Amino acid sequence: MIGYNKVSSVLARGAMRPVESPADRPSGGSRADPGADLLEFWRVDVELQGRPILSGIDLSIRKGEIVCVVGPSGSGKTTMLRTLSGFTPPTAGQVLFQGQEIRKPRRDIAIVFQDYGRALLPWRNAAKNVELAMEAANKPRAGRAAEIERLLTLMGLGGHADKYPAQMSGGMQQRLQIARCLAQTPSVILMDEPFGALDAMTRQTLQDEVLKLVAAMQTTVFFVTHDLEEAIYLADRVIALQPNPGRIARIFDVDLPSPRDQISTREHPAFLKLRRQLFDFVKGAEP
Ligand SMILES: Nc1ncnc2c1ncn2[C@@H]1O[C@H](COP(=O)(O)OP(=O)(O)OP(=O)(O)O)[C@@H](O)[C@H]1O
Ligand SMILES: [Mg+2]
Repeated sequence: MIGYNKVSSVLARGAMRPVESPADRPSGGSRADPGADLLEFWRVDVELQGRPILSGIDLSIRKGEIVCVVGPSGSGKTTMLRTLSGFTPPTAGQVLFQGQEIRKPRRDIAIVFQDYGRALLPWRNAAKNVELAMEAANKPRAGRAAEIERLLTLMGLGGHADKYPAQMSGGMQQRLQIARCLAQTPSVILMDEPFGALDAMTRQTLQDEVLKLVAAMQTTVFFVTHDLEEAIYLADRVIALQPNPGRIARIFDVDLPSPRDQISTREHPAFLKLRRQLFDFVKGAEP
């Protein structure tokens, strides 16, 4: 295997990079800082228990970009996310954060799980759940309370600091999990079907919270979802995977005006066109 230093110098020179088709290239979205690649999959293969799970993944993600990943069950969406989290190392190729190989979990890359019930500590109230991330990061005690209040308010939980998870709705618990992630002050948030267990209205509200967050903090979001419309609504680009082994089948640039709006964006001709393309693609990819 080619060493990291060698690869990074190669990458820095821009040589030997995977050939990208024009459709694969990042679009100049308004939220992102063009040219500032933060995350990179470089010829990534993942094998698990001797089985190829991901094959030849090449993808660059810019700072402040929202990338949504869709694809049939088992196509490797979660595995892709886990390589970014540092939990599943690639068998070949590299996954890079700011040009450095991701070898283990890091605090500037946070994960929001679908199962908020298990992600939160039931014996800690909302404030104490958020504080957990600060304790893990050894943030000084002074200033924690004000920061906790700021994050809870940001996620629409102002006034709920004393509530325990069991006293909160599913949407509130998921907001709390996101607030806790933000307490890590991450550059990247990885989300694996984070709103899959929530009702449609709550889901839409939280989608808008994610968009606001990215606009306010330039956070980069890698978002896995089964919901094609959610993917288009949120994303700068939608990555469509196909299975056996998991690989990138197509990349859809989402050229929709920002800020997005749950009514007008979803009625926009470009939204409807993309929706049709994605549905056709997924239908075609079905066995
Ligand atoms: N730890 C593991 N050991 C062996 N195989 C695994 C492991 N984790 C996942 N796999 C396999 O890798 C493939 C991709 O799984 P992954 O969870 O990434 O898919 P996914 O696209 O997220 O699916 P879903 O939509 O159902 O969540 C599946 O065939 C799965 O069985
Ligand atoms: Mg999954």
